[in-house]
Amino acid sequence: MILLGNHASPFTRKVRVLSAELGVDPQIEFQDPGALSPLIPNDVLVAAHPLGKMPILQLGDGTSLHDSRVICEYLNAEADGDLFPEEPAFRWQALSLQALADGLMDAAVATRYELSFREADATRSRWIERQVGRIQNAVSHMNGIAVAFAHRLTIGEISAACALGYLDFRFAEISWRAENPELAGWFETFAKRPSMTSTPPNPNQKKRG
Ligand code: BEZ
Repeated sequence: MILLGNHASPFTRKVRVLSAELGVDPQIEFQDPGALSPLIPNDVLVAAHPLGKMPILQLGDGTSLHDSRVICEYLNAEADGDLFPEEPAFRWQALSLQALADGLMDAAVATRYELSFREADATRSRWIERQVGRIQNAVSHMNGIAVAFAHRLTIGEISAACALGYLDFRFAEISWRAENPELAGWFETFAKRPSMTSTPPNPNQKKRG
């Protein structure tokens, strides 16, 4: 299998962390096509999937899967994993947390693009404020439910960790820890898992001592 993705993308990282937790990462060749513009379609990605959006998982039979939710559920099913719980008591919580974290990632990535690629105008700052508000609300909600995170590892916790990792990577100025101490405590431990330390958003960045 080939995973087309970007080191910086929290959605790609989610797939890589889940693969490592399932122990199937050695079966997946990770290919990062490098710097891409959101304004110019990339031929390799469009050939692999009509939307041309990463992450894409190319299977041995020539078919491709997108997006991160589909890929993660596929890998979990193939590995007979338990990261997508079957029991209703855990399942809907896990999927809801994944959706919340994905929404946080969407808002953060959209804001990153907006700040990097668009010309400044009057509506821009209001739009960015709206996204930052979404991010803060999502983090605050996660903080309220973080006590339950340690009970069981699911796709929800993996998604939450990748969303917070992306905030630290691209939005260090959003100092979310101060107002969300339960979540900060949980993340400090989770970020030390080998699945997280082996998938940094910037692989060239030196590790802090
Ligand atoms: C980033 O550089 O922040 C980024 C790159 C690809 C996808 C999402 C985010």
